[in-house]
Amino acid sequence: MQLTRRFFIMNALAVLVSIALTVLAVIVFIAIYTKLFDPDADINNLSRIFEVRSGISHIKNTAESLEFEQLLDTGYQDVLAERVKHLGSHAFIFKNREVVYGTTLFNDIDINKSLMLSKNEPDSDTLELDGRTFIFARADYDLPSGDEGVLLLLAPIQLKSKFYLFLGIFTVSFFTITFLIMNFWVSYRFSRGIMIPVSRLKEAAVKISEGDLNHGIAEEGDGEVRELARTLELMRIKLKESIYQQQKYDENRKFLISSISHDLKTPVTSIIGYIEGIMDGVARTPDKINEYLETARSRAVLVNTMIDDLLLYAKLDLNQIPYHFEKTDLQKYFEDCLSDYRYEFEKMNIKLSLVCELKERVYVQIDRERLKRVIQNVLDNAKKYVDRDDGQVDILLRETGTSAIIEIRDNGKGIPEKDLPHIFDKFYRADPSRTSADGSGLGLAIARQIVEDHEGKIWAISTDGKGTRMMISLKKYGEVAGGPR
Ligand SMILES: Nc1ncnc2c1ncn2[C@@H]1O[C@H](COP(=O)(O)OP(=O)(O)OP(=O)(O)O)[C@@H](O)[C@H]1O
Ligand SMILES: [Mg+2]
Repeated sequence: MQLTRRFFIMNALAVLVSIALTVLAVIVFIAIYTKLFDPDADINNLSRIFEVRSGISHIKNTAESLEFEQLLDTGYQDVLAERVKHLGSHAFIFKNREVVYGTTLFNDIDINKSLMLSKNEPDSDTLELDGRTFIFARADYDLPSGDEGVLLLLAPIQLKSKFYLFLGIFTVSFFTITFLIMNFWVSYRFSRGIMIPVSRLKEAAVKISEGDLNHGIAEEGDGEVRELARTLELMRIKLKESIYQQQKYDENRKFLISSISHDLKTPVTSIIGYIEGIMDGVARTPDKINEYLETARSRAVLVNTMIDDLLLYAKLDLNQIPYHFEKTDLQKYFEDCLSDYRYEFEKMNIKLSLVCELKERVYVQIDRERLKRVIQNVLDNAKKYVDRDDGQVDILLRETGTSAIIEIRDNGKGIPEKDLPHIFDKFYRADPSRTSADGSGLGLAIARQIVEDHEGKIWAISTDGKGTRMMISLKKYGEVAGGPR
């Protein structure tokens, strides 16, 4: 709810509740007062007084719209007598302080006193005559002859006028106190819902401006304040992300520079060595020169591959490569993949086979090209580290309830247990004796990055000397050919 609306509603509520409570309190006050102090002042009596008061003031209002002469009409006086009798009241018509008509007999003193008191106390509607309280209503007429006409209505009441005073004081004080309490409540609610959260937001904003982005901003407060807190928290998260991204960029840049200088140094030095060998005449025969050139070329190709790998890894790490995910039949995809590698493996005398243990068609959501890079890196390793004559690499396809499991198993030299947790780290090579001539150590780091971008997992199981099982799990698409599962 908007703050202004809320503020208005709460204030209105404070006034309404105060009024309601006061009415309730007045009822209770009257009940208690009449019970304890003045049995006459019961509710019926009060309502009777109310009835009498409004009755005589109605008669007075009607009379004021008439000419004084009309009051002297006996027809009017009969009706008047009837009405005041019904109200238990008395009516007097005076002309120049002389009673010209009266519904009852009062002594002269009382008559004169009532005339005087009713004239002198225009703000009150009660007067005391001979120890009795009367409600009065008075209409004055200035006659054209210069005479003075008066209609005076008097209604005796039982109630002591002190009661009114008490009731008035009680009502005003009760309303004032209740209203103050309600106002205090409204202010308290506002300070809790607005002022406190705003001061917390201020502290948070100061922290952010000082570069401290680690403290979350609680979503608290009312209306717009809550929205402001949410927006500020979003801003903090975005800022933190962008700083993190910036740090990652810097790290990557440093990492690229250090790894390029470190890992590319060996092949580049060797290229320089071979070319200098030719230039200095160390390689004299055309065959030797050719051999030197070929070696230099293969080193240059390696450098090129390493640079490509480095750039690819850096881009993957910074999420700079867009993925094009497609629903793909797992088995068909691997059959296609294998046909690409069969020749290469045959050439190296390594058996490559696909074992499909899927009971039905399994679909996965993948970027075919990127996933090929994963398979290629894993198969390259299997090929590279098989180091035996009867080398064999099997690709097994399995499934669980929600995942497709791809296992690429070789019977090569395996990975020592201590190295297993690190082989997916960038630049990690289990066998340090192998130099960068064998690769950059980025193959599995790239593979992990791509698999994780598919929300999948990659891990290795291996026993040193007995081969390696590279495991990849991918979420199933959840459909088989012919419609949803
Ligand atoms: N199938 C495997 N058999 C034995 N060791 C393996 C196998 N796969 C990976 N490794 C070990 O894990 C290390 C990391 O592999 P990764 O593919 O990341 O790097 P690399 O093969 O050395 O270099 P690159 O792949 O960049 O050419 C390898 O150096 C190797 O020691
Ligand atoms: Mg590799």
